[in-house]
Amino acid sequence: MALFEPHRPAEHDELMGSDAATRALSVTVVENDFVNGVYEKLASVYDFTFGPTLHAGRVQAIQRMDIGRGDQVLEVGVGTGINAGLYPRDCTVTGIDLSSSMLEKARDRIARKGIRNVRLLEMDAADIKFGDCTFDIVYAPYLVSVVPDPVAVAREMSRVCKPGGRIIILNHFRSANPLFASIERTISPFTVHIGFAADLDLPGFLAQAELKPVSIEKVNIPRIWSLVTCIKE
Ligand SMILES: C[S@@+](CC[C@H](N)C(=O)[O-])C[C@H]1O[C@@H](n2cnc3c(N)ncnc32)[C@H](O)[C@@H]1O
Repeated sequence: MALFEPHRPAEHDELMGSDAATRALSVTVVENDFVNGVYEKLASVYDFTFGPTLHAGRVQAIQRMDIGRGDQVLEVGVGTGINAGLYPRDCTVTGIDLSSSMLEKARDRIARKGIRNVRLLEMDAADIKFGDCTFDIVYAPYLVSVVPDPVAVAREMSRVCKPGGRIIILNHFRSANPLFASIERTISPFTVHIGFAADLDLPGFLAQAELKPVSIEKVNIPRIWSLVTCIKE
């Protein structure tokens, strides 16, 4: 499905621009097979290319989660398991990913580090094979700009989150600055080849996914990534 698939209007549409609920979220269209191919190739170099540069945001996200003892956490798009060692050992983490090569790296990592509270499953984020209201925290680090339908993924994340639980999205979104936004739109069809669409529209995404954030923080250096925290009603 294309990123510009229309979705139902959200109540707070006026705050986000009159067409936020229906407008295109990105100029770039991707399919799972394409994304899978990209990450099959990236798996062996991912930790070097996207490791240190994006790590401050990962650390901040886990701190903000305020994970309690016994909490059930779902990490969507777990990749090479780069976050696995950051979780407290007294919670239970389920990591899902589409790419078998990325998961293989993640399995090596958790075995090497003796991490016992993380399990890994091959699964599409747009079709999560868990029941409604299963997890206390549902977290997508650097995922929503690499999936064909980010709104469908957000709806799945919301579905499997318990009422009162947290839905946390860490991602790069299109700049609010018109010049930067225009550059991001231009480069987006090229950046998908290295794993992400550069121009995902945050207000449109939130409106279409019917997510109401309690906080949006800028993270990493430069501060062009956003840590979006939502509470499921
Ligand atoms: C940019 S990496 C993020 C990895 C990790 N979360 C991190 O913090 O670096 C995106 C990951 O999302 C996975 N992915 C892409 N599309 C997916 C989908 N539809 N369902 C599940 N995982 C997906 C990719 O295979 C890749 O491992």
